[in-house]
Amino acid sequence: MTKIITIPDLEQLIAQHGMQTFYRDLLRYLKEDFARWDKFHKIPRIAAHVPNGIIELMPIWDDRYYSYKYVNGHPNNTASGHLTVVALGCLADIATGYPLLLSEMTVLTGIRTAATSALASDLLAKHGVTTMAVIGTGAQSEFQVLAHRVVRPIDTIRYFDLDPHTMLRFKKNMEGTGLHLIECRSAEETLIGSEIIVVTTAAPGHQEVVKDTWVKPGVHINGIGGDSPGKTELALAILKRSKIFVEFMPQTQIEGEIQQLTPQERAVHVRGELWELVTHQKKGRETDADITLYDSVGFALEDYSVLRLVRDLSQIYNIGTVLPIIPELSDPKNLISLLGGHHLS
Ligand SMILES: NC(=O)c1ccc[n+]([C@@H]2O[C@H](COP(=O)([O-])OP(=O)(O)OC[C@H]3O[C@@H](n4cnc5c(N)ncnc54)[C@H](O)[C@@H]3O)[C@@H](O)[C@H]2O)c1
Repeated sequence: MTKIITIPDLEQLIAQHGMQTFYRDLLRYLKEDFARWDKFHKIPRIAAHVPNGIIELMPIWDDRYYSYKYVNGHPNNTASGHLTVVALGCLADIATGYPLLLSEMTVLTGIRTAATSALASDLLAKHGVTTMAVIGTGAQSEFQVLAHRVVRPIDTIRYFDLDPHTMLRFKKNMEGTGLHLIECRSAEETLIGSEIIVVTTAAPGHQEVVKDTWVKPGVHINGIGGDSPGKTELALAILKRSKIFVEFMPQTQIEGEIQQLTPQERAVHVRGELWELVTHQKKGRETDADITLYDSVGFALEDYSVLRLVRDLSQIYNIGTVLPIIPELSDPKNLISLLGGHHLS
């Protein structure tokens, strides 16, 4: 039977489980799944480049589940009141191929992107970081802040967006968290005293949202918005000063910040994939002066982990609706019977 998880279902699930607990559990699921990296069948996502953006399918599977996500990225959408990113996800049973869960994934994408970003920060940023910069306060931004509070004692957020209305919304949503919120007049100003920097803007093209001269030794950067061919947000020189980690090299070299590097430069500056940090096969930060960069593009394994968690929690809390979208038949060959004889008319 296929369970449907709608946005109200997800709201109820998070209300019952608690947002921080959800992030903690998701970090655990992500670590478990990244640690089983070689058990997954992995392919770069399938991208359709359309006039105003990109539409992608993101499949992954192991011997238990097959998952996929449908997701878009349309940077100009917000001008017409639409989200930049919306998504739907599916978790299926490998043994029968039957879909087990169909879920909203727009909110879950925000959550899983932030949780993976927090995982990278946990593995790469200095300990005891209290100040975080957020550049781009759009749909992803609040999730990033909440996830990072699970891994570091963050008490101060310095934030900036080109759009003042967006900054105001971010402030309103974050009031009540107890965080010290510092509204900045430029991206450069957000970097003052920030040791974790999250860049999550949605401008198309090769942007220099963060310039090299602004970046001090010792910081950790999560580059979230440079996530498709021809779309980057960090100055090239920053990459050449950084120890870079990625999710899945075959995908990131096409879509991430590192598309700006030559293959020879990638061999020097890309130190490994996230799973190698999770399993301690690669060293991350080696000195307090290192600049570390998690070049995030979003990988199917993160969707797999969050769908796995949502399925488990939906069973615990009995949330979601089982709908007849997959046939249930006593004779599986009598498919036409589902039309109730109307095929005869
Ligand atoms: N890596 C991943 O897994 C992942 C997941 C989801 C979204 N994304 C990407 O993250 C980015 C943000 O997504 P979103 O849903 O928050 O989009 P959004 O449209 O809601 O917000 C983006 C914000 O960036 C701001 N912005 C654009 N250029 C800027 C600049 N130069 N300086 C400061 N602010 C600037 C815009 O004003 C806007 O408020 C998108 O590019 C999206 O494709 C990546």
